[in-house]
Amino acid sequence: MPLTIVDHPLAADLLTVLRDRTTAPPEFRQTAERLGYLLVAEAMSDMSSDTLDITTPLETTVGTRLHRPVVAVAVLRAGLGLLHSVLTLVPDAAIGFAGVQRDETTAQPIEYYTKFPTLEQARVLILEPMLATGGSLSWATSKVKENGARDITAVCVVVAPEGLRRMEEDHPDVRIVSATLDRGLNSNFYIMPGLGDMGDRLFGTL
Ligand code: URA
Repeated sequence: MPLTIVDHPLAADLLTVLRDRTTAPPEFRQTAERLGYLLVAEAMSDMSSDTLDITTPLETTVGTRLHRPVVAVAVLRAGLGLLHSVLTLVPDAAIGFAGVQRDETTAQPIEYYTKFPTLEQARVLILEPMLATGGSLSWATSKVKENGARDITAVCVVVAPEGLRRMEEDHPDVRIVSATLDRGLNSNFYIMPGLGDMGDRLFGTL
């Protein structure tokens, strides 16, 4: 399963703002969106395009358009933090939702909602910012595959080795793009050094 870490000074700068415990939700949300642009661009970097003739105000030239549509599937709720990045870059992307809650004692995913647009022909971007145990991403990946997805890339902000191993075992065909590969999980299944609970930090909950 290919892992791509976006190695860019701007991505590192934005990740540092997200990691900082003093970053309040308004700045956290804006920074996650800005980092999302870099991550989503990388997650689409291997997409194929069709060529076509177009006419500029000056002459005819050859352009390209993306061959496949893009679908973003936000894993609730932290995935919402990357949704605007996709919609700004690809305004006609269709959006799906995968509602899963983490059981805080076992870290097992508890499903509560799914809604997907047509997935068959699309590049499906699963927005799962914190890849910790991998339980939620593996579950969301199984769900989109059951609904016809064949071309899947996960967009993460922070990944842990434990989550990567789980995805390698369950879904070796899924590419993972992230801003960092962190050290590992603590006893409460939080990624270390990480950035804390992404949903809480986005939405100001505790
Ligand atoms: N989910 C989060 O939001 N943060 C973690 O560190 C792990 C899972």
